[in-house]
Order: sequence, then C-alpha cells, then structure tokens
Amino acid sequence: MQIAIDGPAAAGKTSLGRALADHFGCLFVETGKMYRAVALGLTRGISLDEIEITLDENGRIFLNGEDVTDLLHTPEMDQASSRVATLPEVRERLVALQRRIAAGHDVVMEGRDIGTVVLPNADVKIFLQASPQERARRRMQERDGLDYEETLQEIIARDARDSTRKVSPLNPAPDAIIIDTDQKSLTEVISEAIDLVKERLRKVDASAEGRM
Ligand code: DC
Repeated sequence: MQIAIDGPAAAGKTSLGRALADHFGCLFVETGKMYRAVALGLTRGISLDEIEITLDENGRIFLNGEDVTDLLHTPEMDQASSRVATLPEVRERLVALQRRIAAGHDVVMEGRDIGTVVLPNADVKIFLQASPQERARRRMQERDGLDYEETLQEIIARDARDSTRKVSPLNPAPDAIIIDTDQKSLTEVISEAIDLVKERLRKVDASAEGRM
C-alpha cells in the first residue's frame, strides 16, 4: 500500500503521516528532510555532485555519512530547502531516491509532489490545507522563540516559492482528497484520514474480488 500526503509548509503532514504509518504498519518517509539535507550540504560548500543523502529505518537522515537530522529544522533551512527544491537536478535525484525507498514497502510518504510526481499510482492521496495564519500559529507551538509576524511572512514566502517553481509545483493531484484542517484538531484529521484509507482499501479489495 502507498499513501501520499502533500500540502504546504506546516499543514500537519508529518503528524498525520506518522500517525497513519503507525496505524497501518507502514514505513514513514518525510521527503522534506531530503531537500533540507541537500540545502545544508550546499550551504556547507559541498558541491551537489559530492552530496550523498541516506536514511536509516528510524527516519534519521545522513549527509555524506553524518547524522544531520537535528540540524535541519531551523528558519534558515526552511528557506534554503525551498530554494534548493526549485533546482531540477536536485528534484531528479531525490525523486529517484524516494521511488527506490517506496519500492517493495508499504509506505506513507509526505512532501509536495508525492501524489503528482513521485507516486502517481499511490492507493490514497491526501492533500492537507490550512490558512497561512493557522500554519504560522502551529509552527510557533513546535519551535521556541519565534515571532508570529516573521513566521507568517516566512510561510507566505515559502508557499509562493513552492507553488510557482517550474518543476513540480505544489498542487493537489486530480485524484487527491483535500482535507482543510483550519477548524479541525489533529485527532479529528487523523481519524478522518484513517477512515478514508480504510474505505479506499475496501474498494481495492472489492474490485480485486470482482476480477477473480
Ligand atoms: O516539508 P518540509 O517543510 O520539510 O520541506 C522543506 C522544503 O522542501 C519545502 O519548502 C519544499 C521542498 N520540498 C519539495 O519541494 N518537495 C517535497 N516532496 C518535499 C519538500
């Protein structure tokens, strides 16, 4: 089974993805971390050709063998990763890596282009939406010492870059189920998504029986 979760920054994709992966016993892959690790490599002056990204089974991410997982979620890396994500050669390499990881696994994968590009045949595609104001508030709960206005402006800047880049702009796949999370708690979103996945699996089973 493949579950794709896409949506803008701070929409709750990671919390939902982790919950779905736990519930259905799937591997959970956060693709944003890969773009962040490449951005970190480039800011350290490593050339793209020399950057090697690997992950372990716990979702820790390595840049040329160094565990950089805890260095990636800073305001600087938020912006740098969204810039790096506009480069076609970076996307090509990371999409190939993501497809290799998904092959042969039951997987929940979250990002911006999972349902449209990486796993276009995913069994379930979910696109999470929330207003920039709500996402800025959530981001402030996750990270200490942020200023609301600055956080909001950074989210708006990142939305603009993620949605207007030439290669794989952020867009819901035509067959994605859109969940607006503004007025919903995380628990409500998780339970709605679990129901959606179960319903989709029932349909897949029913059509497989019909073919037998
Ligand atoms: O999900 P995130 O905030 O960790 O992602 C960081 C940046 O990486 C985001 O601004 C856009 C980019 N990204 C992408 O272009 N495609 C993905 N599948 C995942 C992330």
